[in-house]
Amino acid sequence: MLKVAFYDAKAYDKPAFEHYGGLHNMQFRYLETKLNEDTAELAKGCDAVCVFVNDNVNSAVIDRLYEYGVRLIALRSAGYNNVNVKHAYGKIHVVHVPAYSPYAVAEHTIALLLTIVRRIHKAYNRTREFNFSLSGLTGFDFHGKTVGVIGTGKIGRIFIDICRGFGMHVLAYDRFPAKDSGIEYVTLDELFEKSDIISLHCPLTDETRHMIDAAAIGKMKKGVVIVNTSRGALIDAEALLEGIKARKIGAACLDVYEEEADVFFEDRSGHIMNDDLLARLISMPNVIVTSHQAFLTEEALDNIAETTVNNILSCFNNDGVCDNELCYRCGHIEQCKKERKQKCF
Ligand code: NAI
Repeated sequence: MLKVAFYDAKAYDKPAFEHYGGLHNMQFRYLETKLNEDTAELAKGCDAVCVFVNDNVNSAVIDRLYEYGVRLIALRSAGYNNVNVKHAYGKIHVVHVPAYSPYAVAEHTIALLLTIVRRIHKAYNRTREFNFSLSGLTGFDFHGKTVGVIGTGKIGRIFIDICRGFGMHVLAYDRFPAKDSGIEYVTLDELFEKSDIISLHCPLTDETRHMIDAAAIGKMKKGVVIVNTSRGALIDAEALLEGIKARKIGAACLDVYEEEADVFFEDRSGHIMNDDLLARLISMPNVIVTSHQAFLTEEALDNIAETTVNNILSCFNNDGVCDNELCYRCGHIEQCKKERKQKCF
């Protein structure tokens, strides 16, 4: 029987994992705490750990897990910027769920945009108090506007299709543009200069960290709407706040936030908010924050559980080959062992 320590477990995770794990006699040890150096010990006796976006799988955590006999880190997310994959190489295999529902994230992105631009969040609160005034609720048409999409992978492309349905003009930037896709690629500067709306769909890497900073905001149109459903640290949140205060940024929608790890996914309603920057952003009438919920659909939760259980099974079966294994060399054609040997190491 394979044993898996399941960190940062939430009630909505369990039904699907119990279902798919149960089919293969897999035992999950559900832990409400996040994985860090202090909690790694809770995985003692387990073959694998199952982690999510705010578990901190740094080098010290990896060393401890290895010492405790853990041989697999199974991310139940697509992004893996929270795992030191370089340090894990040669010790602990790392697998992820490359796609569970790109539709969920793309649809949430457009939901946020429609809400902020048409002031639905304001109207909802007003009508609940029988305030039927329209003053201050003027939005703008999406039709005919230019949307700049950064990252044209699975989610970015679905988002592009949705935007085209609205009759928007789509510009895109990607470090690795998709060939023959019919997507109009431009430089990042041109995207900043021409877009009415900017949506982020690229991964968080050393290169993309704070790609939206004061300099980038300076190049944007006055009144630009920025939406981030990718990773918080793509945006320098202090620069974003300054841009909003200066009336340069017309609105911002954030499903992710650089310092989200201690607050997102938790009920903090009875607590004093220590993060002044987040509190100030939330206080703005033209900012909407959702707590990393873009993925949260029934379809996505089901796919996450099914793929994660299959990933774990594949890694522990005879040949140990798992299509969703990843390492720091993946994609680097010269160095990638997986392309030749099907395994990262
Ligand atoms: P993907 O891997 O299919 O696409 C990512 C795209 O970004 C690729 O086309 C890649 O070439 C491009 N890219 C890589 N480096 C870049 C750079 N320096 N500049 C511009 N583009 C670059 O990934 P997918 O599935 O579309 O997911 C995108 C991101 O969405 C993930 O990295 C993850 O951080 C985030 N995400 C957020 C969720 C949420 O609940 N808010 C859920 C799932 C993913």
